[in-house]
Amino acid sequence: MATYGEGDPPDNAALLCEFLRDEQPNFSGVWFTVFGLGNKTYEHFNETAKMVDKRMEELGAERIFPMGLGDDDANLEEDFMRWREAFLPKVTGQFGWELNTDAEGSRQYRLEWVEEGRPYFKGEFGRLTAYERPRAPFDVKNPYLSTVTENRELHGDESQRSCKHIEFDVSKARIRYDTGDHLGVYPTNDSALVEAIIQLLDFNPDNVFRLINVDEDATKRNPFPCPTTARMALTHYVDICAPVKSHVLRGISEYTSDEKEKAHLQLLSTASEEGLALYNTYIQKERRSIVDILKEHPSCKPDIDHLLELLPRLQARYYSIASSPNKQPDKIAVCAVVTEYDIGSRHIKGVCTNFLRDKPVESNVPIFVRKSQMRLPTRPNVPVIMIGPGTGFAPFRGFLQERQHFKELGKDVGAMHLYYGCRHPDHDYIYKDELEAFVDAGVLTHLECAFSRAQAEKVYVQNKLWQTKERIWDALVQGAHIYVCGDARNMARDVQNTLLRIIREVGGKSEDEAVNYFKELEKHKRYQADVWS
Ligand SMILES: Cc1cc2nc3c(=O)[nH]c(=O)nc-3n(C[C@H](O)[C@H](O)[C@H](O)COP(=O)(O)OP(=O)(O)OC[C@H]3O[C@@H](n4cnc5c(N)ncnc54)[C@H](O)[C@@H]3O)c2cc1C
Ligand SMILES: Cc1cc2nc3c(=O)[nH]c(=O)nc-3n(C[C@H](O)[C@H](O)[C@H](O)COP(=O)(O)O)c2cc1C
Repeated sequence: MATYGEGDPPDNAALLCEFLRDEQPNFSGVWFTVFGLGNKTYEHFNETAKMVDKRMEELGAERIFPMGLGDDDANLEEDFMRWREAFLPKVTGQFGWELNTDAEGSRQYRLEWVEEGRPYFKGEFGRLTAYERPRAPFDVKNPYLSTVTENRELHGDESQRSCKHIEFDVSKARIRYDTGDHLGVYPTNDSALVEAIIQLLDFNPDNVFRLINVDEDATKRNPFPCPTTARMALTHYVDICAPVKSHVLRGISEYTSDEKEKAHLQLLSTASEEGLALYNTYIQKERRSIVDILKEHPSCKPDIDHLLELLPRLQARYYSIASSPNKQPDKIAVCAVVTEYDIGSRHIKGVCTNFLRDKPVESNVPIFVRKSQMRLPTRPNVPVIMIGPGTGFAPFRGFLQERQHFKELGKDVGAMHLYYGCRHPDHDYIYKDELEAFVDAGVLTHLECAFSRAQAEKVYVQNKLWQTKERIWDALVQGAHIYVCGDARNMARDVQNTLLRIIREVGGKSEDEAVNYFKELEKHKRYQADVWS
């Protein structure tokens, strides 16, 4: 059970969680255990799993095995392997079952070739004609093939990184969005990596096939849209860049002729101390993908259809929408900082940001809007404090456009305080000209920029908050709403601690009173965070 948002369940578990929380079913006679997928950098670590575990017990179910809590900030795969290793003997022992380890290697899908000339999926989801004849509503299962109308660099020449402002045309789709929403983007994998797999495994990538679930009653009939070709599946449907999961390593080890290489792959997928330690460094820390594994184990030649079955699906990436529907209802803007780094001699490129970086105007990208919780106050005269370093500024560009629109309509708009941060004013200060224009127009009333590498000492947004503590407290007293967006790892926590300090030291509250004051802000949606790690 995963946790998202601010300690919320994922969309497909929302109903179940609501039911468990609000209803009183009698679960006596039901056995249960829970494994949580979470991340310790978030305030509400594994909140959903903890809630489900607690409620199941309260409703009379019997916990067969203690809850496991996976931490995606460290090594979630290892957490799960350790938990599963202890859980399986317990559950088999309890029911007198025999553990069938052979089943792990058995196929869930069977291969069926499709005769030439038949239509096949080339990146669409759901329907073969989904992109030619798009049908609303558009969502994660039915993205809209938008057209890029703008793609420009936001960083200065001296920056060693790249950050792109990209706009997508949605005029024909009638997609509605609100400021603060997220844009889901489906990337395609780098064609050089797809080609590398084709070369390494030496198969015909353009034969059309289907993978069909051997369990006819299963709800999931195919692992990805079928019929398709291996080239299309490797390009659009499976993840070939993420660190390889242990069950994939186990599966492909069976196709490895060299005994040493086979033993290495098997050790990597074994939940022993040695295996887990090796997995942690070789796969997790050094981020080896399936391409790296195949290159470094040249005798490993899995059947491509089995490999495609084993690999996880390529997921959409989310970006905070950086525009307001009032200003541009037919276009959606995002800004994305390009992920790129070296580990040893390997140059690793983030899938989606590198896909987006090179997308020319007029090219197409599958997108959809995902609603978020982060909203401007309904009354435009309520003051807002926006804290968004780096691309965390994205939703606030939308907020500023929205308030400017209201101001132009002659409405009374409240003060807008922005705390922006980056490394250096000449390198990575994004949207500088626009921000200055918002200041000149009287929309952005207070702009504070924290540059971390422009002077001897580091300055971050939390330092700027503290420097302007009286102004922050005054705004809070006037009913200001606070928004934090961007890095979940350090920034969100440091900002929260600084705000608590301001409430204590300027607002004159005790430690407990400050915590309660903050909780009230959260409860009344006057403190909203949209952070990611
Ligand atoms: C709600 C939400 C809103 C977001 N909004 C924005 C936004 O507005 N703008 C924006 O730019 N991003 C935003 N993101 C992040 C975005 O979704 C992607 O995660 C990001 O763009 C990277 O995607 P990618 O496919 O290029 O990289 P991936 O291929 O997914 O690779 C990223 C992974 O690489 C690893 N990694 C990165 N750098 C290193 C390193 N130096 N060493 C080792 N490992 C490393 C990390 O584990 C990281 O998770 C948001 C995320 C969420 C959840
Ligand atoms: C926008 C966002 C919000 C998140 N919020 C939380 C949270 O409140 N608590 C937590 O423990 N993990 C949180 N996480 C981390 C996820 O739960 C974690 O990455 C998990 O591995 C996701 O599992 P899944 O990929 O199987 O859905 C969040 C992740 C994202 C992207």
